[in-house]
Amino acid sequence: MCGIIGISSDKPVSASIINSLKKLEYRGYDSAGIATLSDGNINEVKSKGRVSNLERNFDIKNLKGNIGIGHVRWATHGIPNSVNAHPHSSHNVSVVHNGIIENSTILKKDLINKGHNFKSQTDTEVIVHLITENLKTTELEEAITKTLNQLQGSFALGVVFKDIPDLIVGARRGSPLAVGYGPNENYLGSDSYALKSMTNKITYLNDSEFCIIKKNQINFFNDKGKKINKKILELSSNELSSEKGDFKHFMAKEIEEQPTTVKTGINEYIDNVNKDINIFNFPWKIEEIKSITLIGCGTAYHSCLMAKYWFEEFTSLDVNIDIASEFRYRKIRFKKESLYIFVSQSGETADTYAALDLCKKNKMKTCAVVNVIESSIARDSNFVLPIHCGPEIGVASTKAFLGQMLILYILALKFGSLKNEIEKNNYQEKINDLKNLPSLIEKTLLVDNDIQNASSTFNDAKGSMFLGRGFSYPIALEGALKLKELSYVHAEGYPAGEMKHGPLALIEEGMPVVVLAPRDSYYKKTISNMQEVIARGAKVLLITNKSKDEVISENIWETIEVENTNDDLLPFLLTIPLQKLAYYSALKKGYDIDKPRNLAKSVTVE
Ligand code: F6R
Repeated sequence: MCGIIGISSDKPVSASIINSLKKLEYRGYDSAGIATLSDGNINEVKSKGRVSNLERNFDIKNLKGNIGIGHVRWATHGIPNSVNAHPHSSHNVSVVHNGIIENSTILKKDLINKGHNFKSQTDTEVIVHLITENLKTTELEEAITKTLNQLQGSFALGVVFKDIPDLIVGARRGSPLAVGYGPNENYLGSDSYALKSMTNKITYLNDSEFCIIKKNQINFFNDKGKKINKKILELSSNELSSEKGDFKHFMAKEIEEQPTTVKTGINEYIDNVNKDINIFNFPWKIEEIKSITLIGCGTAYHSCLMAKYWFEEFTSLDVNIDIASEFRYRKIRFKKESLYIFVSQSGETADTYAALDLCKKNKMKTCAVVNVIESSIARDSNFVLPIHCGPEIGVASTKAFLGQMLILYILALKFGSLKNEIEKNNYQEKINDLKNLPSLIEKTLLVDNDIQNASSTFNDAKGSMFLGRGFSYPIALEGALKLKELSYVHAEGYPAGEMKHGPLALIEEGMPVVVLAPRDSYYKKTISNMQEVIARGAKVLLITNKSKDEVISENIWETIEVENTNDDLLPFLLTIPLQKLAYYSALKKGYDIDKPRNLAKSVTVE
């Protein structure tokens, strides 16, 4: 959460910092701020709310300085207002911070006793005063090393100094941080995306390292303050752009891009000539893998749940799934013969990273399914399966969900084939079906009108439910998550067969209920569950697939049909109307679709 940018240049930096902050808003948007150095002063400007508020601030226009740091915040300590906005400054030091300082209360007490004055409710201000305190007795590098050793918790930091006006210090533990190399200027960023418009030459800091950035030189240090060398990486260029184009919202664009992203994923992994799946350089023999644990958060967790059904369908592997924030604190009995798969769009989610780290420390086999291939999770896993979706900017994940499901589906099929547990013809038929998926998604995207009409009913209701069985159950969970995060309507995803064990009590006259009932092996059972909710007054929006047979049930409020494909690919198509339902609900309410309240795209706090 939160975004950091720093620029050290031979020309004024405030306009470039503002531009980068706009790009970083996906990481947090409850306040923004900037600090530059000029004429022996720290110039700080901060605003509550969006970067556009900061841009309108009169003081920004007059902000001089060839060196500066900026920040967009997602509040953890202290309410979102301009006082708690970053940067935080003492008389000689200014800091931007992502993460949480766990021992801030103790450190603050001590610093107050030493005469330091605090202005905000944040944990970050402790870092500012600690550096100021340590600079009284030591030189820069030693003061930084000492400060970092005093901090507990997670952080990525950008620091500028009134009395050392030609440099920025960057440091990290737990939260990601990158530096970038430009012509007569160098950069600091909370991720490579922040820097992409300025440079494609990047170095990532590892945990406990720090750096000193000048306009024409960058030095790196380890946790002991000793100089180290680090590699410069060239970032991949993405043909899918991070601009909105003609679309009103990134989310709309990203939903419509799905035929292309799925096609790219298929082209990357499917060998059309031999009708086979290519997973190049997979580092283990299939016999070494007896079980799989899939780990993720939010939407990524839903793709893990989906994958469980596919792995169980195509292989005899023992398949477990876990929510990263639970996994990392449980007493896990690690199994040598297990493969741990980490699913994450950003590749920076703090809980997922911590779960990966735990597996690494226990010497487990780790595999990352990520969109951002330069991310921490990708870099620190034994093996990476990129989902090739291009930048996903809308906070609500859409194309990355389909991308994650696609790669996990492909992996499940491949494992089934390698273990000789899926019959060859069946395997090749499924590969054939995959090739048609992009065009089926494209056709399913035309469900627009019906969904737009239905969305008003969800907005007017005090709650709603999303039901599905088997392959449709994870999609029901995802549909409910999308609706609640975008239109702030209470929505609950449930296995349809579980309704009678409690949630049926929630159903009352007119309550909107989405029932996912494609004509798969669960169809009849789901239709029975649908009738149970209709009988109790629910207004059912049935989502099924096209068929010559009519649905035999009375009193269905609305029916939406997706295209037809084999049972295990139907989840891809069922997802489309649910993404659109959430989109149109939020649109009708006039909510901020790409930046829903209280959320952020990259969740780098636990
Ligand atoms: C919901 C959503 C989140 C993310 C979750 C994990 O639309 O986007 O639930 O899926 O925060 O993020 P990543 O995939 O970046 O690890």
